[in-house]
Amino acid sequence: MAASFGVSKGSTSFQAIQEERREQAERSVLISCPAKINEKKFLDELSKHGTINKHFFYSSYGTYAVVEFSSRESIASLKESTNIPAVQHESAVPFKSRLLSLKQTGSGSHPIPNFQEQSPPSINDLNKLLSEQDSIDEQLQCLTKALQLTEENISLRFLVCSLLRDIAGAYFPECIIRPFGSTVNSFGKLGCDLDMFLDLDGIYASNQKTQGSGLSLEYQVKRGASERVVTQSILSVIGECVDKFGPGCVGVQKILQARCPLVRFAHQPSGFQCDLTANNRVAMKSSELLFLYGTLDPRVRQLVFSVRCWARVHAITSSIPGAWITNFSLTVMVLFFLQQRSPPILPTLDQLMGLAGPSDNCVIEGNDCTIVSDLSKITMQSNTDTLLKLLQEFFEYYGNFPFKKSSINIRKGKEEIKPEASALYIQNPFEITLNISKNVNATQLERFVVLCRESAWLLQQGEVLNRSSNQTADSVPAWGFAALLLPSVTSGAGVKSRRKRKLEPASSRIKNLLDSLKIKGADTAAKKGSTNHRR
Ligand code: GTP
Ligand code: MG
Repeated sequence: MAASFGVSKGSTSFQAIQEERREQAERSVLISCPAKINEKKFLDELSKHGTINKHFFYSSYGTYAVVEFSSRESIASLKESTNIPAVQHESAVPFKSRLLSLKQTGSGSHPIPNFQEQSPPSINDLNKLLSEQDSIDEQLQCLTKALQLTEENISLRFLVCSLLRDIAGAYFPECIIRPFGSTVNSFGKLGCDLDMFLDLDGIYASNQKTQGSGLSLEYQVKRGASERVVTQSILSVIGECVDKFGPGCVGVQKILQARCPLVRFAHQPSGFQCDLTANNRVAMKSSELLFLYGTLDPRVRQLVFSVRCWARVHAITSSIPGAWITNFSLTVMVLFFLQQRSPPILPTLDQLMGLAGPSDNCVIEGNDCTIVSDLSKITMQSNTDTLLKLLQEFFEYYGNFPFKKSSINIRKGKEEIKPEASALYIQNPFEITLNISKNVNATQLERFVVLCRESAWLLQQGEVLNRSSNQTADSVPAWGFAALLLPSVTSGAGVKSRRKRKLEPASSRIKNLLDSLKIKGADTAAKKGSTNHRR
């Protein structure tokens, strides 16, 4: 039985959705199970501790189950009946987390439970999926459905945050570890990293205590030279605990000198590459903004997923930090393009601020981060552009954008004169004096522009839009969006010319191409080795 994970229909605001998922995660446990788990016996056993709301199984270097109880007391009861293992030749850190192992004696015959997929589809499956569609619009819709995070995967991400919170909570009981970035902004692809931040605001919330007597008490505290220094020491200690006490957390690196200090590690049981930061509220607000834009029209996510996939295949983006365009920048470029349509598909950030009510007011470190939370206040214009048209015009727009003189500004929704000489200037939506693409150099921008022109040209030819009638199971001619994923003629060293490639079976061309997507977990492997952080 596959449990249905997700948030209830009543929760519509971004904050309400995050709160609901966080609360569900606090009532959940992650259990490593034997490969041939007897699901019925497993559920019967766990139900002794209380009602199980939902559960699912997945496979990641072993079989795991996520079990959500309906009450937190069940977790306490379950922990009561769980043992610290007796390990031979070594010694165990007796930290009682909610990551457990189930031992099963005897096996017998029973049905194998359903496993929920936590990785993106294989290259062959994606290729097949694209080829089976009848139009480019269908291809882009399908691509989004196939790559997007599932409800189960999002639940697992919140659970990992909650497990880490238990470690940080030993020092800061009021703290919360919140996911941000693509986990919550609606543009996450299966396999993407897990960005988290340690939220200590709950500690300051109780700061208003006054005593009628005229006396008041204060905590004696250690002081640091600046907020950054304090953040670095907190992350350093939490990083140490994650490394020494956190079951399943491996490869912990403290990257404390980055603009935004962080602790990076892999969480093995979930397979997530994790970045833990602190004091990162503006990034959380950016995630909310992206989520809001993604909710307003289905074409927004479909275009973003497609452009991100196209950019990844052509190595315009990379999992390794460097001078290339990031997924975040690319997403903002798509949003900006959609604001330029006639009529616009998306409102400007200024318009979203204008619609905000008093309870939406939000100032973070002097930056006005106010946006409307009640989406029903936003009036959408009736733009009926197809995805094919949008994709084609996206490539034409950025293939001819005056990057030398203009900046991209989603707050105003129009091009502005660049305030400085960076190759690509995309104004940070909330910290308006910053450029989110400062890292991009002229070479990388040029590659992007050339590829946009090439893809626009291919779509204009119309030839790629025809689904070939001589398609067989073995030979899948690259048509439509898949044709745009073929290696570029004009950029990239060592890439064979299109004419030459025509001699190869199309299926192997596509396979090689999609191989470069490194769809299955390669992002993680590449990131592991990197200590240079772009933020
Ligand atoms: P993925 O590539 O799927 O991980 O996308 P992502 O949106 O999660 O990007 P990433 O993990 O690089 O960063 C996480 C979040 O940090 C983003 O969603 C942004 O909110 C924020 N962020 C990333 N890069 C920048 C930057 O250069 N400037 C600012 N201000 N925020 C950034
Ligand atoms: Mg991310």
